[in-house]
Amino acid sequence: MPRKMLVTSALPYANGSIHLGHLVEYIQTDIWVRFQKMRGNECWYVCADDTHGTPIMLRAEKEGIAPEALIERVHAEHTRDFSGFGVNFDNYYSTHSDETRQYCELFYQRLKAAGLIETRTIEQFYDPVKAMFLPDRFIKGECPKCGARDQYGDNCEACGAAYAPTELKNPYSAISGAKPELKHSGHYFFKLSDPRCESFLRQYTRHAEGRLQLEAANKMQEWLGKPGEHKLTDWDISRDAPYFGFEIPDAPGKYFYVWLDAPIGYMGSFKNLCAKKGLNFDDYFKPDSDAELYHFIGKDILYFHALFWPAELAHAGFRTPTSIFAHGFLTVDGAKMSKSRGTFITAESYLQQGLNPEWLRYYFAGKLTNTLEDLDLNLEDFVARVNADLVGKYVNIASRAAGFIGKRFDHKLTAPTADLPALLAIQTAAPRIADLYEGREFGKAMREIMALTDQANQYIDRVKPWELAKQADKEAELHLACSNSLNLFRLLTVLLKPVLPVVAEKAEAFLNIPPLAWADAATLLPAGHAIRAYNHLMTRIDPKQVAALVDANKESMAATAATSAKPAAQTAQPSAAKNTPESATINIDEFARVDLRIARIVEASHVEGADKLVRLLLDIGEEKPRQVFAGIKSAYDPAQLQGRLTVMVANLAPRKMKFGLSEGMVLAASDESEKTGGLYLLSPDSGASPGMRIK
Ligand code: MSP
Ligand code: ZN
Repeated sequence: MPRKMLVTSALPYANGSIHLGHLVEYIQTDIWVRFQKMRGNECWYVCADDTHGTPIMLRAEKEGIAPEALIERVHAEHTRDFSGFGVNFDNYYSTHSDETRQYCELFYQRLKAAGLIETRTIEQFYDPVKAMFLPDRFIKGECPKCGARDQYGDNCEACGAAYAPTELKNPYSAISGAKPELKHSGHYFFKLSDPRCESFLRQYTRHAEGRLQLEAANKMQEWLGKPGEHKLTDWDISRDAPYFGFEIPDAPGKYFYVWLDAPIGYMGSFKNLCAKKGLNFDDYFKPDSDAELYHFIGKDILYFHALFWPAELAHAGFRTPTSIFAHGFLTVDGAKMSKSRGTFITAESYLQQGLNPEWLRYYFAGKLTNTLEDLDLNLEDFVARVNADLVGKYVNIASRAAGFIGKRFDHKLTAPTADLPALLAIQTAAPRIADLYEGREFGKAMREIMALTDQANQYIDRVKPWELAKQADKEAELHLACSNSLNLFRLLTVLLKPVLPVVAEKAEAFLNIPPLAWADAATLLPAGHAIRAYNHLMTRIDPKQVAALVDANKESMAATAATSAKPAAQTAQPSAAKNTPESATINIDEFARVDLRIARIVEASHVEGADKLVRLLLDIGEEKPRQVFAGIKSAYDPAQLQGRLTVMVANLAPRKMKFGLSEGMVLAASDESEKTGGLYLLSPDSGASPGMRIK
């Protein structure tokens, strides 16, 4: 009996590019879905862009376009990236859709009717210049614990303290710079603290229920606390205008918070697919549905998927997820992905550099487990693994046998040795490998498959077709050896097909067979079967390609500094050539974010061990002068700098250097002759004084 399944990946935000971290999730889900389809199950894979919320609204505003135009453009980019990596959604939709809006309103009505929606007045920071309430992430100030400047409203990056935005010292709006005011506003809450929600969640999140992985279940029990502890608090599901989202039907000026409509977007996308395919939506979402529902997510969004979402579904009259599969985070070469190191690699750049997406699919598959553990992309290991396993072992089997069948046997196979140990080994292992795929133990599956591939190569090394080919009386043996080899290759292709769909398709074309299903692992190609000409299936990775990829993703210091307020939303940009005018225009608000000040050089000195730098102490009217290391030694003798006025960037993120902290930057003009002294510090007209703002 084929199973009926609906599978989702988390909906990526519509204000950023897809990067290799995201791809861990979409590739993992895609492999699982392809496996289910090969098994003959009715399995639908849906996703969408997560389009609402303040960051997307502000991003559109900054670009000078409507949010609808922004999300449309990003939708096209995301669609291109996913299809480039073979992520084969049955529907890739948008949360900004009629379907999602309708289900949002339905949830709201039903939860309200059940007495699970409550309104309450809360006090929140408000930006009087921008005329909007500020999400925590858009309030900055000094950390209440350690005093570090320019920290976000929810936690301090310097000391790690967590706090409420109201605790920040000297808070300011990250949008306008204005001092925020506390203002009252009516908000809507989903009553997660209601005893019905709590008792439902206690049951639902138990590991024994089979819905959550052990580590996830433990975390949920921790969040729930002990019975009687009442740790769950109500969830604020509304936001005030201006907001890009769905307006709450009976509350003009109030919008559903993006995290309310985002998971409902799974339903919206599926509803849209149902209309296209003539499927019955209720079969999948009615409370007693016999279809299975799975959500693949990153461990950072467990709270939303394992608490809020099931509680909403259960009390709005829908079925709840069969399981929630959380995965860990991607690191590159053992560290968090970094723009300055070039390891924040976008999907687009990977494809543009001409790297084969199936290299990455295979590498990720080899690293994936069914736990929440992080996984590392080690770039050296990536090259070695793929070249050794895929090119050296797997593809090699076909290339060693195909030519002889074409040239010597008119493309036709002879009957294979049905009880050949290498063939039998694959056929016996297939059900076990199916279990590993089903259980999301892709790493273990890849290791088993490679062990079988080794066995196949050992067979070929033993029969040596290339030597048989030289002996006139070994025609039949050669025919058999090559036919066995191609049968081995075909069976291995069945096992690898969920991971390598493009290679599998090319293999099917060359073997001249219909698309392989999992059950084909039990059969062999018969005598007389004719194959087509062999075209190479996959090339080796050249380490130079990986180096070029990292280079292409390296963001220059200048670009990083200028965009540091919201790095996640930026796409990588190639470092700008030195003296070509920057063509991209910016608006006045963007320019205003650069805090330029008149500075007096109160001290200038040589830096021991640095051949380009001069250490400057700059007075900009603050209590203490700022230290800046400037690369101006080729043009200036420190002694001649003392006392003069210049221009500095005062809000550049401080940078730790070998010689100490650099707390800003001075401005100078230069051309190619910079190294030989063609460098000119800026000076203001007379009358300007330290600390004056330059606008
Ligand atoms: N929009 C929300 C999800 C809403 S689901 C109803 C969101 N978007 S996201 O773009 O930030 O992330 C999308 C998915 O990618 C999440 O599951 C997230 O965990 C995953 N990943 C983002 N960066 C990742 C890594 N570096 N490594 C692994 N997965 C990562 O969250
Ligand atoms: Zn701090």
